[in-house]
Amino acid sequence: MQDLLDNALARIGAAQTDEELEAVRVEVLGRKGVLAQLSKDMGKLTPDERVARGKFINASKQALETAYDQKKSVFDRAALAKRLDSEWMDLTVPAAGVPPGSLHPVTQIQWEIEDLFRSMGFTVLDGPEVETEFHNFDALNIPADHPARDMQDTFWLDGGQGGAGGYLLRTHTSPVQVRGMEKLGPPLRMIAPGRVFRNESVDASHEHTFYQLEGMMIDREVSVGHLIYFMKTLLTAIFKKDVTVRLRPGYFPFVEPGFELDIRCLICGGAGCPVCKQSGWVELLPCGLVNPHVLRKSGIDPAEWNGFAFGLGLTRLVMMRYAIDDIRWLQSGDLRFLRQF
Ligand code: PHE
Repeated sequence: MQDLLDNALARIGAAQTDEELEAVRVEVLGRKGVLAQLSKDMGKLTPDERVARGKFINASKQALETAYDQKKSVFDRAALAKRLDSEWMDLTVPAAGVPPGSLHPVTQIQWEIEDLFRSMGFTVLDGPEVETEFHNFDALNIPADHPARDMQDTFWLDGGQGGAGGYLLRTHTSPVQVRGMEKLGPPLRMIAPGRVFRNESVDASHEHTFYQLEGMMIDREVSVGHLIYFMKTLLTAIFKKDVTVRLRPGYFPFVEPGFELDIRCLICGGAGCPVCKQSGWVELLPCGLVNPHVLRKSGIDPAEWNGFAFGLGLTRLVMMRYAIDDIRWLQSGDLRFLRQF
């Protein structure tokens, strides 16, 4: 019997594969195996023999199971290592074939201007694209019956123009002036870039959706000199070269006096092209000193405070800087266009 046990232990030790090991297990420890057979035969033995046989069986079983478990775990570990090797992957390798995107040219220039104005103490504000009629018009000194409303073709929301209770897609970023004054009060230095909407027919220089960047400064003694200083700083930073500008009177009900700051067209150099409507000049920066009515409507005393405001045509500025000759490219989503930036 001892031979039997030694032999089985030796075979377990010598097993080279999982299958060989399993075969020994079935043969010795299995339900119809050698040990099972030995216990079955116990009935034929004397009580003394039976005790000895029982001890032998238990000890053998333990020894065999230990040997089996040890060997089995060696095979299991080897199998696991093999599997790990074949299924291994490096999670730190960057994904292949995803081309990196880039910022839209409007966003790039917007961020540049934000940095510039922040460095001069201005706060960057955001306002809603769906605006109240009050913020877009009335608070800016453009009452419902005023012809100045016709300057901006408006997308009205359901319910339409209704005293000061209607909603619309904002036609300019100027309502953020009002929100800035309401929320922050004087003294105030703010800019507000954003998307605006006009119900216009689309051509090379007009889109129904475009970008402006509003600016406003309110303090104790603000003059046109301050306004021109900031405008020049802005244009020099963006174009990185001298641009020819002209200032002419402009009418906006929320500024007094009001100006149009034009730049010599950088697409055609002033010779005339579709972007400058053959005039050689591009309207870029309407601006002026804030109308006292507007200050008063937002709870600011015009006897104590005054200020300037401007409404930069951000989309136009982008077109001038990159010599883009058709505004429709900007919203086209055309990758051939976008990949250039
Ligand atoms: N909001 C005006 C427009 O879109 C521009 C403007 C802004 C004019 C600020 C003066 C001051 O036409």
